Amino acid sequence: MELKTLNEADVAGKRVLVRCDFDVPLKDGEVMDASRLKAAVPTIEFLKSHGAQKIILIGHAGRPEGRVVESLRMAPIAAKLGELTDLSNVEVRENLRFDAREEANDPAFAAELASLADLFVNESFATAHRAHASTVGVAKLLPSYAGLHFAQEVERLSSALVPPQNSVAVIGGAKFETKSPLIEKLLALYGTVLLGGALGNDLLKARGFPFGSSLISSVPVPAEIAGNERLLNPTDAYFDGGSMDDRSSVITDTRADEKIVDIGPATSAAWAKLVSEAPFVLWNGPMGVYENGYTHGTDALAGALASSGARAVVGGGDTVAAVSKFSFDPEKIFVSSGGGAMLEFLAAATLPAIEVLKKP
Ligand code: 3PG
Ligand code: MG
Repeated sequence: MELKTLNEADVAGKRVLVRCDFDVPLKDGEVMDASRLKAAVPTIEFLKSHGAQKIILIGHAGRPEGRVVESLRMAPIAAKLGELTDLSNVEVRENLRFDAREEANDPAFAAELASLADLFVNESFATAHRAHASTVGVAKLLPSYAGLHFAQEVERLSSALVPPQNSVAVIGGAKFETKSPLIEKLLALYGTVLLGGALGNDLLKARGFPFGSSLISSVPVPAEIAGNERLLNPTDAYFDGGSMDDRSSVITDTRADEKIVDIGPATSAAWAKLVSEAPFVLWNGPMGVYENGYTHGTDALAGALASSGARAVVGGGDTVAAVSKFSFDPEKIFVSSGGGAMLEFLAAATLPAIEVLKKP
């Protein structure tokens, strides 16, 4: 796939509008993880060093649904970005999603955005699966280019669709119903697919194991997926039985009132070994209820991956947070900014905001 990229744009003396991934985790007005902001820095610095007259940054945070929500203003995000790069000559505009016309891909709103600049650069891979005014609408109205990180996302995720033999894919999190087509596709491309998180519960159910009162998807795992021996389910788990001391045990020991909240130590060790021995690893989604502190399995895989030197593409908020706890070679491990966008790209091999940046 050939994209128009920033390297081929003549930006000198131009006003450049840049769509960024400003949707970062915020707590009490503070940015908790700046990975998505860091991803925009090379593009901002490229524009400066190539003589852009003005840089206008646009993005969204959260889902304010067309209303002004004080806790989702851009100011703290812009302040954090300002710690990462010099923002003189740069304007950071207010949350795009305070205006309902953004998500509606309203042509008048796209035209308003286009009127701000001479060129458009998309540096927001995480929203590339959304056909919004700032991702698709405006790109049709201005000469438009993929940002430096955006272009890398497309290249690295495209290569994850042609993995070397015996590669390993790890998929976690919830919502089997939305991930089912991707899991089927990955089974055709990857030697082994590991299913953790709530997806692992769904597979356990389909394979006749007890799953207690664990989170289960509304849609069952189809027999042809459940029957695939290269798709692995956890063999042990940590359980939340309502008491403070969570226990771990083999899956066959799951009690009716218990919830599976993480892969167990035996599964962690076995999967860490598979991951560290694989020529290539694709990973999206945590192995446990990460946001509630069940980080053991996800962190174990992240540590194994970081120290193994395996090539990998990882994405999704919790997965990125886990991998970021370890030091790793960024040439080998590519961290995608995309959560949903990464999964949709892998399933469809393109996205709406990519289509509008393709060379004719
Ligand atoms: C993300 O968080 O992955 C992007 O910001 C997309 O957000 P959305 O799911 O609210 O469109
Ligand atoms: Mg989001």
